[in-house]
Amino acid sequence: MLADIEFLKVPVVRKPLPGPKASECIRLDGKYVSPSYTRPYPLVVKSANGLWVRDVDENVFLDFTAGIAVCATGHCHPRVVKAIKDQADLLLHMSGTDFYYPPQINLAVKLAALAPGKEDKKVYFGNSGAEAVEAAFKLARWHSRRELNIAFFGAFHGRTMGALSLTASKTIQRKHYSPLVPGISHIPYPDCYRCAYGQCRQGCGTECVSYLEDTLFQTTIPPEEVAAIFVEPIQGEGGYIVPPPQFHRELFRVAHKYGILLVADEVQTGMGRTGRMFAMEHFGVAPDIIALAKGIASGMPLGAMIAPAEIMNWEAGSHASTFGGNPVSCQAALATISLLEEGLISNAEIQGERLMAGLRELQKTYECMGDVRGKGLMVGVELVKDRETKERATELRKKVIESGYEKGLLLLGCGQNTIRFSPALTVSAEEVDVCLTLFEQVLRETVG
Ligand SMILES: Cc1ncc(COP(=O)(O)O)c(C=O)c1O
Repeated sequence: MLADIEFLKVPVVRKPLPGPKASECIRLDGKYVSPSYTRPYPLVVKSANGLWVRDVDENVFLDFTAGIAVCATGHCHPRVVKAIKDQADLLLHMSGTDFYYPPQINLAVKLAALAPGKEDKKVYFGNSGAEAVEAAFKLARWHSRRELNIAFFGAFHGRTMGALSLTASKTIQRKHYSPLVPGISHIPYPDCYRCAYGQCRQGCGTECVSYLEDTLFQTTIPPEEVAAIFVEPIQGEGGYIVPPPQFHRELFRVAHKYGILLVADEVQTGMGRTGRMFAMEHFGVAPDIIALAKGIASGMPLGAMIAPAEIMNWEAGSHASTFGGNPVSCQAALATISLLEEGLISNAEIQGERLMAGLRELQKTYECMGDVRGKGLMVGVELVKDRETKERATELRKKVIESGYEKGLLLLGCGQNTIRFSPALTVSAEEVDVCLTLFEQVLRETVG
């Protein structure tokens, strides 16, 4: 039973880790499971509730990963679990590509109403972030009849061939998979801590956008051949990088000047994580196409792509997926969205500020914390060897994450040297404080 972990205030970890049952699982995994997965530490999960995760040896961890920013409503939220169980009793699958069923229609109505922008919207359903991006990629080509696309260095859009061609996060993700989809150009993402154009925050003239218009569109890329610009509102896997406030408005202006669609990949930033339903709301931009997944259904597989009806005008048979918009996932999403609207989005904003404030306080003591940044509960700490040179502390990042696990705090990395904090949006002030206390212990022991 999980009830007891609801009342836990601190992790309970017995050394050595991994314990005997976890070790046996990992042995079998090594023999039978694809070796392409990257595991930062040997956590083998049995059950979870809220922010608390229990492993197969009965150790209990505080989870500041939310299963890679997925379990928005916390692990196994009772209302989401009930919605799943109720729907499972009624209908597991019928395939929304060939038949109709209310959960998919009801979710489309809800997402269409939530998406920013005045136009009537339509929704396409898949099973994952990559599928949502892949659908956006195909729709942009189909609608515009243009072949080229722009994306950003550091971007992660998924691992299917189209999405992977837009991805420019780590070479290991692309190695041996060429040729990828042609016609995609990558440009630097606005990383104000390490501006590719040598600017500082004060003097910023959004060179990250003018480079596109003044250099690329004048020299190598005919803008009238560009279908879409794919952008993460806040770069996720690339290092939790928050662009300057004017960036997305400028990008939108340039895109529309040349009839180019702006696709916001909100797979990680969406569904309330940043303290707004969609992160683009922070920047005052209503993108043409939005890709969603991760937090949308609290852990059930679901991806969605939203666009105005006049853009999503492809004909029957152009694109579909057997499992996309599965009724159980759609009911989980509807329950998730209700919870987000009833208070979890504002909790993300409040607890995100508490977490950032606590981390900034630690930054005064720990030189290795080069940059603390984020919005809502999408918070990154970039570790450096030296604050002046900003040399990346990649080995230290590895040690900090491993040591967090040993102390019962689950964290993940992103980018080359950033630690990400992406807890469930149900996180309490006490849980934020426990995280901060454990993180400080980790830093004290790792860097002294
Ligand atoms: C911004 C973004 N887009 C797309 C994806 C791909 O999602 P999935 O792993 O569900 O295919 C991810 C996953 O991390 C992501 O962060």
